[in-house]
Amino acid sequence: MTPAPERFEIRSDAAAGAAATEAASPFAAWPDRLRHAALVLLVVAMVLAMLTISGNLALAHAAIAFCCIVAAALVPWRLHDPAASRDEPARPDPVEQPAVGAVIAGMSEPAVLLDRAGRVIHLNALAAQLAPALRHKELAQFALRTPEIVAALREVAAGATARRVPFVEHAPVERWMEVAITPVEAPTTFGGRDFCMLMTFHDRTPLRRAEEMRADFVANASHELRTPLAALSGFIDTLQGPARDDAPARERFLGIMHAQASRMARLIDDLLSLSRVELSAHVRPDARIDLIPLLRQVIDGLEPLARERAVAIETELPAEPAIIAGDREELLRLFENLVENGLKYGASGGRVAVSLTQDAGPEGAPEWQARVRDFGPGIPPEHLPRLTERFYRVNAGDSRAQGGTGLGLALVKHILNRHRGRLLIESKPGAGATFTAAFPRPPA
Ligand SMILES: Nc1ncnc2c1ncn2[C@@H]1O[C@H](COP(=O)(O)OP(=O)(O)OP(=O)(O)O)[C@@H](O)[C@H]1O
Ligand SMILES: [Mg+2]
Repeated sequence: MTPAPERFEIRSDAAAGAAATEAASPFAAWPDRLRHAALVLLVVAMVLAMLTISGNLALAHAAIAFCCIVAAALVPWRLHDPAASRDEPARPDPVEQPAVGAVIAGMSEPAVLLDRAGRVIHLNALAAQLAPALRHKELAQFALRTPEIVAALREVAAGATARRVPFVEHAPVERWMEVAITPVEAPTTFGGRDFCMLMTFHDRTPLRRAEEMRADFVANASHELRTPLAALSGFIDTLQGPARDDAPARERFLGIMHAQASRMARLIDDLLSLSRVELSAHVRPDARIDLIPLLRQVIDGLEPLARERAVAIETELPAEPAIIAGDREELLRLFENLVENGLKYGASGGRVAVSLTQDAGPEGAPEWQARVRDFGPGIPPEHLPRLTERFYRVNAGDSRAQGGTGLGLALVKHILNRHRGRLLIESKPGAGATFTAAFPRPPA
């Protein structure tokens, strides 16, 4: 039979510590005690029976003596739990066996084994790293002061089934964990069972980030679509009403409507391209592509924009072919985005340099590195890690004014991932920005 769980009270002040450790119910484990004393009681009963039969003891006296001995066996003589006191040596705990400790130490996630009062019996290195305040033989409630964890420990100790509660670590980086507290029955050396609680921590940060990104994406996409749509319906109202007979206004408004409709179409195109590239991310493109004519085609296509912005495009391309395994359409979009960004956001520098070199990658493997460098205002360092997020813009107003959707670099990153390539962004405010797309060179 399982002993009834002890009750303990959890308070956050230090004085509550003593109360929590003292507040066990000492009589709760009587079935275990009776079982342990069973052999002694049997011998006593036989001796008393022999004395009664031989006429040396009255039956009533023998019965009273037996009851007293049974009562004495049931009384917990150690009412004060020595483990609760720091001055006294701890009571040897059957679950402190090295094998149990080895199992906890070998778990792949942070894990802590607690006794029924919440004291730490075993903890692994991952748990000690996650919550350095957790100490052997001390109450976990004081190390993890989260109210949800404290309440869950109390519920599980009181007989509840497993509980899962959130635990957010704020420093050094924000991590969302889920703490699972599971009741465990460990065998004791007397053949009984001892109640403990297994607390494991599961990192839910990637899941949480993915959920946030999905929510942000839906919100951003709707916002980006709603803005031109609102402009379109506004102009339609105006054309149906006040500007109905105003020919010059009608011409102007139709021009704006055309630009807004193109912006919506471009946004939808970019979204579709992104999802297509994502869908085929696992299939590596295998067409043989020479990057030199491809880069020339991109530069020729963007010449009108370069002229409009008064920017000179300089090239430094090798004489021999630069062959990679790739997808032509995707590579065109990738370089269009990079060169167009240089022309749009780095126009003040007056020139954009496009170069292609052979280099060794981080693991020494040969790469083709295509570099697009501008000499404009550059990008402040705090924005660099987020530039490839969908809809992320350093200056949203400026980007929208230039007709940008904020999806260009997200698409660049996904195309490079599919080509097993890398994107490097280097920038110093005031000294322009360099975007390098590196592609593995296929074997000759
Ligand atoms: N060469 C650059 N110099 C300065 N800022 C840049 C440069 N390239 C990109 N950025 C910044 O990064 C942001 C994201 O660029 P991205 O190409 O993803 O979107 P976009 O250019 O705004 O839109 P799209 O590429 O869809 O037309 C830009 O809005 C701009 O603020
Ligand atoms: Mg762009």
